[in-house]
Amino acid sequence: MSEEKTDEIKPTKSISATRRLALAVAATALATAGLVGLLINVFEKKTEARNPFFRVVELNERTDDPAVWGRNFPLQYDGYRRTVDMQRTRWGGSEAMPHTPTARDSRTTVAQNRLQEDPNLVTMWNGYAFAVDFREERGHAFMLVDQETTQRQVVVRQPGSCLHCHASMWTAYNRLGNGDIFRGFEAVNHMPYAEARTHVQHPVSCIDCHDPATMALRVTRPAFIEGIRSFYASRGRPNFDPNRDATHQEMRSYVCGQCHVEYYFRGPDKRLTFPWSNGMRADDILAYYERDGHRDWTHRESGARVLKAQHPEFEMYNQGIHARAGVSCADCHMPYRREGALKISDHHIRSPLLNIANACQTCHRVSETELRDRAEAIQNRTHEMRDRAMGVLVELIHGIGAARTGGATDEQLAGARLEQMRAQFLLDFVEAENSSGFHAPGEAGRVLFLSIDHAHQGLRSLGARPSLVPLQTSAADAATSYSAADGGSAAMDASARD
Ligand code: HEC
Ligand code: HEC
Ligand code: HEC
Ligand code: HEC
Ligand code: HEC
Repeated sequence: MSEEKTDEIKPTKSISATRRLALAVAATALATAGLVGLLINVFEKKTEARNPFFRVVELNERTDDPAVWGRNFPLQYDGYRRTVDMQRTRWGGSEAMPHTPTARDSRTTVAQNRLQEDPNLVTMWNGYAFAVDFREERGHAFMLVDQETTQRQVVVRQPGSCLHCHASMWTAYNRLGNGDIFRGFEAVNHMPYAEARTHVQHPVSCIDCHDPATMALRVTRPAFIEGIRSFYASRGRPNFDPNRDATHQEMRSYVCGQCHVEYYFRGPDKRLTFPWSNGMRADDILAYYERDGHRDWTHRESGARVLKAQHPEFEMYNQGIHARAGVSCADCHMPYRREGALKISDHHIRSPLLNIANACQTCHRVSETELRDRAEAIQNRTHEMRDRAMGVLVELIHGIGAARTGGATDEQLAGARLEQMRAQFLLDFVEAENSSGFHAPGEAGRVLFLSIDHAHQGLRSLGARPSLVPLQTSAADAATSYSAADGGSAAMDASARD
């Protein structure tokens, strides 16, 4: 551009003029070079800050090893590797419990045992593999080994479909489907777990969320693509394709919704299915199963055909105030983190309560302690309601069991068993949701309320009178009540402002 300008200067014949001109040209050229250099520098800084992209290695659709991606993106890779950290919060995080390795299970640590923490879970899941082994979830680094080694693999022959959410699947689906991930998905679903396991090597990896050419976010899981399409179709928006139709902010939640969702294996093919064609709320999904007829197992004590709910974080989050305000999973679980001049997404995915400064204080300008207290107040309330709902459910299960032993017929028990199935699924939906109510407090309360109502109807149909649980002030009760004395009411005022 400035070179064109120097061309415009008319040459003169005088030597001194030529000299002057030469000097001027040199000066302009120098200045220009300086300016262009500066511009390039600023431009690089800007793109760097947005997307630090030092291509050390070429990435392609077959690169599933995160260590290779890590050579281009060391900061993100470093965060990703930190998902081995284990730290507990009041209701979340996880605790490293020592584990003696065996021939089958080489782990030296496992997360805490949830069945020991609450034996009512064993009553609820009686006859199902979950009653044998169920632990707190921990970081992404463990997803493959924890799935492989759970005792649930010993008591049941699990299908290849399990891997959809526990391994880097993109390259395997492509390879087995000759470039068609849906065909690859079907092939893996059909396989026994042990066979499917030989086709994968890593836990969820960079390639499962990113396009290797552009680093853009993408959804790679067939079950999510089918599930979200069925959800939008039921809302009058046919043929929704998340990779084409979702906003950037939606993608920041969809990549997580590929796995943190309720699911079941449909039909003899064991096709992994997200049951959303009737809506995403717990009762919408329950209605879907009632229509579809799918049940997970027969309860050993009561003989009821029942369902297990699993980790519906995406569904619950969608009913909450943060989703409504456009806050994504990544905003709280992968918040921006400064690294010198760079702003990067924290790939150390974990409980945001271990990272309140980055995860919450960007939006809520109150102290860390106050934010933790607010979150825990919601969680304590949810647990109080959950314990009540569990109490009535267990009473119903034992009631049906006793009636059965006493000679009641299947016909006489049908009504109570149906109500057990409903009460149990709704309670389990909140129980299995890993935020303890935080993602959608009002919704969690509503679902538990429905659960208690169904359990009461079940007891009534048995001819039993629901027992009145005496009111007592538990530690949880005390923790959920605000009082002006502990600064609670001031805190509530502050929350109305931020
Ligand atoms: C507004 C912030 C926020 C958003 C948005 C959010 N979460 Fe959370 N999430 C939390 C908090 C707070 C907890 C509770 C952590 C605890 O108890 O230690 C939590 C807990 C979890 C847990 C359990 C973590 C643990 O350590 O036990 C998972 C899994 C999870 N969220 C996944 C998701 C997914 C998936 C989405 C999006 C669909 C999402 N979250 C959206 C704040 C958020
Ligand atoms: C739709 C995705 C999805 C599928 C399919 C899936 N999981 Fe998971 N699994 C998750 C998520 C998300 C977590 C972490 C949240 C939690 O534990 O609630 C998890 C946690 C686990 C854990 C650790 C916590 C625990 O329960 O002890 C084990 C073990 C596990 N899954 C085994 C399996 C097995 C076996 C299968 C097949 C029957 C399976 N998973 C299928 C998504 C899935
Ligand atoms: C491929 C499936 C998959 C995807 C995609 C996925 N997760 Fe997970 N996530 C899991 C599984 C499985 C576990 C449990 C691993 C275990 O316990 O061994 C887990 C665990 C977690 C935990 C618990 C961590 C801890 O230290 O306790 C959080 C929080 C979480 N995921 C959030 C997210 C968020 C946010 C996203 C999206 C940015 C996401 N996950 C994407 C499958 C997935
Ligand atoms: C569970 C999904 C998930 C996985 C797995 C994942 N990322 Fe990301 N990554 C994200 C999200 C969400 C963002 C934010 C993107 C946005 O808002 O545009 C992001 C952003 C990035 C960016 C853009 C710069 C930044 O920090 O915001 C880079 C580079 C990146 N990731 C590299 C990696 C690498 C390398 C790996 C593997 C070691 C990886 N990611 C694994 C979800 C994931
Ligand atoms: C990107 C912005 C953003 C982030 C990050 C965020 N919040 Fe929020 N939060 C909001 C908005 C918006 C609301 C809705 C109320 C409002 O508009 O003021 C809200 C509401 C809340 C509420 C009231 C919930 C209810 O159901 O009434 C609590 C509690 C809360 N946030 C805690 C947290 C915590 C804890 C974190 C970190 C784990 C967090 N928030 C992260 C924006 C955010």
